[in-house]
Amino acid sequence: MREQLEALKKEALEQAIQAESEKDVQAVRVAYLGKKGPITEVLRGMGKLTAEERPIIGALANEVRDEIKTNLDHRSEVLEKEALEKQLQSESIDVTLPGRPSSQGTIHPLSAVVTEIEDIFLGLGFSIGEGPEIETDYYNFEALNLPKDHPARDMQDSFYITDELLLRTQTSPVQARTMEKHEGIGPVKIIVPGKVFRRDDDDATHSHQFMQTEGLYVDKNVRMSDLKGILESFAKQFFGIDRSIRLRPSFFPFTEPSVEIDVSCGICSGSGCRICKQSGWIEVLGAGMIHPRVLEMSGFDSNEYSGFAFGMGVERLAMLKYDIDDIRQFYTNDARFLTQFKSV
Ligand code: DAH
Repeated sequence: MREQLEALKKEALEQAIQAESEKDVQAVRVAYLGKKGPITEVLRGMGKLTAEERPIIGALANEVRDEIKTNLDHRSEVLEKEALEKQLQSESIDVTLPGRPSSQGTIHPLSAVVTEIEDIFLGLGFSIGEGPEIETDYYNFEALNLPKDHPARDMQDSFYITDELLLRTQTSPVQARTMEKHEGIGPVKIIVPGKVFRRDDDDATHSHQFMQTEGLYVDKNVRMSDLKGILESFAKQFFGIDRSIRLRPSFFPFTEPSVEIDVSCGICSGSGCRICKQSGWIEVLGAGMIHPRVLEMSGFDSNEYSGFAFGMGVERLAMLKYDIDDIRQFYTNDARFLTQFKSV
């Protein structure tokens, strides 16, 4: 029996060392130390032994059982430690690795320019108005002194939806809409940034959809000098303090007199270069004193009230300010172009 116990011990210890997982250890434990295991069996057969042998074999059996148990516990500990180390290694974080770059969007240059224009005019006492992009023929043309068959309608080739509805060709209809709301009582002092649409073929300077900002100031005693002062202040804030403006006579059906406004060329400071076609000046917007008929049609007494209006192309202003040579850049969503305006 002694040899049998020694052999069992040897076998169990060998298996304990070979155990590769806690599950293996548990299997060895059950096989050798369990209720149905060989050591329990030896202890059960003790009755057959002589009185002298019984305590000796009993002590040996307990010793063998304890030794197997100690070895298995030890093996468990080693395996647990190994597993933890492996896990720690696989989960380790290298804090010296460079971070993953996250790509943040940028404000679209047109939005940035609109915000800048709004800021400047808010500072000059204007508020911001708006109107519909699908407009009636009345507001887009008639209320602006452009009756049906007026030849000046040809200046703005239009997208008609029905005979009476079209995509607005200009932000000017918001002039009439806003004046109507004021029911003949001034002052009205707004700017209106917004999309407009024309049946133009797209090229470097034309787009069938673009943005304008309309301006309107109606009050008692508004004069041409007010128009000049406001727009000079705008030009200096938008383009730079060293820039100046000039007014040139022009024609718009809704203003009388009408002017076109040029800003001095920022490249040559007025002495003449390729950009300003040697003139020293660059055309930036249309403006004028509101035609008395337009005031009257929108409910203002033209003997009591006067006003000025202006309209500018936002893309054109952005192109001049940021030296962009093709209007289509604003609408083709090329990230290489858009990301250049990160800091704007
Ligand atoms: N609506 C004109 C256009 O689209 C621009 C314009 C000119 C607006 C003179 C005005 C103005 O308010 O007074 O060409």
